Amino acid sequence: VYKNESEASREVALQIANIIREKQSENKMAVLGLATGATPVEVYANLVRMHREEGLSFQNVITFNLDEYYPMQPDARQSYVYFMDENLFNHIDIKRENIHIPDGTLKKEEIPDFCLDYENKISTVGGLDLQILGIGRTGHIGFNEPGSAPNSGTRLVTLDDLTRRDAARDFGGKENVPVKAITMGVGTIFKARKIILMAWSKKKAPIIKKTVEGEISGKVPATYLQLSENVNFVLDKDAASELT
Ligand code: F6R
Repeated sequence: VYKNESEASREVALQIANIIREKQSENKMAVLGLATGATPVEVYANLVRMHREEGLSFQNVITFNLDEYYPMQPDARQSYVYFMDENLFNHIDIKRENIHIPDGTLKKEEIPDFCLDYENKISTVGGLDLQILGIGRTGHIGFNEPGSAPNSGTRLVTLDDLTRRDAARDFGGKENVPVKAITMGVGTIFKARKIILMAWSKKKAPIIKKTVEGEISGKVPATYLQLSENVNFVLDKDAASELT
């Protein structure tokens, strides 16, 4: 638990940089699972700063994003492609071909093959060294909403009404928020060698309490993380304020 979002984000960015540098020293690729939303913004800002000021290179980094709305055009302001470019990729030296984000432009019948391929691509490069996560107020990780199975893989899902309400501001009204998304599954996330879940502010305190102290249940998919040996929760004081 950290004093505030800034201190916590700096720590998470440091951990990411350490993985990248360690892999560099072994001449290997670092495979990172990335998240979007408000939560990781300062983490990415720190990574950009380290790239500019400390020469942190992303030449040996491969990334897989957790999710994308469906349908979604990559150049739309609300797309996660746009978000990642603006907050991270446009400001670092990552190779474009090493970036992977679920494709919101697919035809519906193309989605199952795309999802299998996404899983295969992660396996082929040796699996995720680290997956970073935010958490939704429904208890979703990625867009694994209540009802998601612990062994779920990358797939098309329906967004919870609360998730769509929380996204309404970005879309100028809930009615404009896509009903569906393509997301890595809980099972995909679990295969990462290390998982960091971040949460800031009082708004997240009730779901953090349920996730950490509540019964493990598909009703709150993030509670599955209680079963992982490789997960760290990085919280600010406010998000941790309801923990006993
Ligand atoms: C984003 C994602 C979501 C968000 C969650 C929290 O890629 O997978 O699970 O992490 O909805 O969103 P923010 O950070 O905006 O509160």
